[in-house]
Amino acid sequence: MNYSILVNKEHLINDKVLSKIELVDYTDILNNGIKVEKTTLDHYLMLKEFLHKKNIEIGIESSYRSIEEQQQTIDYYVEHYGTSYMKKYVAPLYASEHHTGLAIDIAIKINGEYKTELHGLKEQEEILSEIHKYLKDFGFILRYPKDKESITGYNYEAWHIRYVGKVISKIIYDNNLCLEEYLQNFGRILVVNKPKGITSFDVIRKVSKLLGIKKIGHTGTLDPLATGVLVLTIGTYTKLSELLTALNKEYIATAKLNILTDTLDSDGKIIKEDVKEISKDSLINALNHFKGTYLQEVPKYSAVKISGKKLYEYARKKQEIELPKREVTIESIELLDYSGDTFSFKTSVSKGTYIRSLIRDIGEFLGSCATMTELIRTRQGNFKIEDAYSIENIENLEFKLLTIEDYLDIPVVEVQEEEFKKIKNGVQLDNIYGVKDKVIFKYNNEIIAIYKKINNLLKVDKMLYKM
Ligand code: DAL
Ligand code: ZN
Repeated sequence: MNYSILVNKEHLINDKVLSKIELVDYTDILNNGIKVEKTTLDHYLMLKEFLHKKNIEIGIESSYRSIEEQQQTIDYYVEHYGTSYMKKYVAPLYASEHHTGLAIDIAIKINGEYKTELHGLKEQEEILSEIHKYLKDFGFILRYPKDKESITGYNYEAWHIRYVGKVISKIIYDNNLCLEEYLQNFGRILVVNKPKGITSFDVIRKVSKLLGIKKIGHTGTLDPLATGVLVLTIGTYTKLSELLTALNKEYIATAKLNILTDTLDSDGKIIKEDVKEISKDSLINALNHFKGTYLQEVPKYSAVKISGKKLYEYARKKQEIELPKREVTIESIELLDYSGDTFSFKTSVSKGTYIRSLIRDIGEFLGSCATMTELIRTRQGNFKIEDAYSIENIENLEFKLLTIEDYLDIPVVEVQEEEFKKIKNGVQLDNIYGVKDKVIFKYNNEIIAIYKKINNLLKVDKMLYKM
C-alpha cells in the first residue's frame, strides 16, 4: 500500500488503487459498523489510547466511504447547508480521500457527548490544537490545514486526519506543508550512508518508498562494493543534481597489489596476476606521482555513454571499444596503511575521477598491477560521512533534510506573491536585484527557480516549481 497516495480533485481514485487497499471493520461513535484501512486503524487506536491518558476521548465519525456513501454525504450537505457550503467541505465523487480508508473524521467526547464537525466540534479549538500536536507521532497529518485552502481546495478541517506514515508526517509537520505541497513542490537534500552490497539505485528505491516521493536523484553513484556518502536530491531538487555532481570528493580506498580484474575491483574476474615486491617508499612515490592533473582512462565497466550506449553494455557483449580518457585532478593523496599486498589511502579528487582507475594506474606505474577491494566515500563537497544517515536512521526518524542554498555560492532572494506569480511562469525580469551571475528565488521557504543574468535581464536557468 502506498501511504503517500494523493487523492484530490486533480487526482481521482481508480479501481486499481482501491483493489490494493486492505479495509478492516471498526465501529463509529454511533456504534455503527464502519471500515478503515488496516494500518490506519492500528495507528488511530494508538493515538486514541495516547490521548485517553491525557483525558481526551476521541471517536470516529467517518472513515472509509464508498462512492455511494460519498454521494449521500454530498446530498446531505446540500440539503442542510447548501451547495456553496458543501463545496467547501465535501469532495466530489472519486476525489475524496475517504474512498481510501486512510482518512478519518474524528469526534471528541465532552461530558459524555460526542462533538462532531456539524455539531459543536469547531468550537473545541483548545482540545483540537492539543490533538493536532501529536498527530505526526502516530503517522497522521492534518490534511486540510488553515492557510492552505487555496492549495487543498477545501476549508480548514480540524477533524479530518490522514494516515501517511511517520516519516512523511514528520517532514510535513516540521516544514508546515500540506500534502500537495510536499508531493509536488518540495525539494531537499538527503545525505545517505550507502551500505555495501547494494546499488545506488537500490538506495534511491528504498528512500523513495520511505519518503513517498517518486522523484529522487543522485549526484554521483557508488558501486555496489562502495559505501559512504551518497548525496540524494529529493523532489524539485532533482533539477539541481548536476550542481552537486560537480563537487569534489574524498575517499578512503583499499587495494591489493599484483592482481588485476576486468572490473578493476574485487567484484570482477581476475585477468592478470604478478609477484612483484614493492617497497613502502616506492608505493608512496607512486601515490605522489599522481598528485595533480592527469588523463585518466575510464573503466570499461562504467556507466559512461558512448554513442548512446553505456560502456558496460559493450563490455558485457565483449564488444571492443576505445575507452575515453578524461582530465581528472587528484588534489591530495596519502598512504594510510600498507601490509602484505594490501594498502589503503585517503584521497581528494575532482568530479569524474574513478578511484578504480586511479588504483589500476598506480599498479601500472609500479610495474605491476592493482585492484580495488574497498571504497568509502568520506566526503562530497561539504557533505561529510559523519552527517550521513543510514536507511535505519531514516526509518527511525533520525535524519535531517538539508536545503541547498548553504551549499551553492548563489545569492538568495525571497520574493512576495506578485513576483512569485511571474517567476513560476518563467517570465523574464529586470535585474532590480543587482544580480551578477545567478540568483535563487524563494517563496514561502521553497526554491521556485534559479535565474541567470543575460544582458542585464534575468532569465530562467532552472525552473523547480511545478504548476
Ligand atoms: N471532507 C473531505 C474534503 C472529503 O469529503 O473528502
Ligand atoms: Zn473527512
